[in-house]
Amino acid sequence: MTTLVFASNNAHKLEEIRSILGSKFVIKSLKDIGCDADIPETADTFRGNALQKAKYVKEHYGYDCFADDSGLQVECIDNLPGVFSARFAAKYAAEFGIDADTLGDSKDLRNMECLLRRLNSIGAFDGGRTPKACFRTSVALIYNGEEHFFDGTVEGHIVADKRGNGGFGYDPVFVPEGYDKTFAELGNEVKNSISHRARAVAQLADFLCKE
Ligand code: IMP
Repeated sequence: MTTLVFASNNAHKLEEIRSILGSKFVIKSLKDIGCDADIPETADTFRGNALQKAKYVKEHYGYDCFADDSGLQVECIDNLPGVFSARFAAKYAAEFGIDADTLGDSKDLRNMECLLRRLNSIGAFDGGRTPKACFRTSVALIYNGEEHFFDGTVEGHIVADKRGNGGFGYDPVFVPEGYDKTFAELGNEVKNSISHRARAVAQLADFLCKE
């Protein structure tokens, strides 16, 4: 079986990736290879950040490796949070005139609240409207000395109130196209069959199977 490092320690993502790649590959995490570095993600695109992480592992640990970078893009706010999805509240709350201390306890909650308040403040939910959004993932793979990219998108919209307990990040406010439940309500099985990450990783798996 082919062994690859997935340059992440995010338990949710590792679980998703391992369930998608099934038994075809042994996927090691950063922890599995003894890497506890805070790998920089300073690019301004998903692809750029993914490649930065994969290169770091290749250069420092020598393993063939893939890394992903994902985020939510909401059309009516210039595709924010985008590459700032993980630190949206920390970066933008003040700029939006929002008191960051009132957003909630967890980082996920603060980011979602920041997004909902921003969308409310510009009237994006007025008249029951649901702003158009998508999740995007770019995967960068370094394999046999070459760089490859795989992109996945899931289109949908943002709802004004958080719903559901599953998933992570912005899942409670994102409803994928063709469904009336949020990712957090749909559960892992459905999410893993249609998600941005699933779509990018499916291409990665197709590529690796042909190698
Ligand atoms: P990452 O850089 O791929 O870790 O993703 C950055 C941020 O985007 C995460 O911290 C989440 O806030 C958000 N995100 C990425 N993928 C998902 C998802 O599948 N559901 C909800 N939020 C996500």
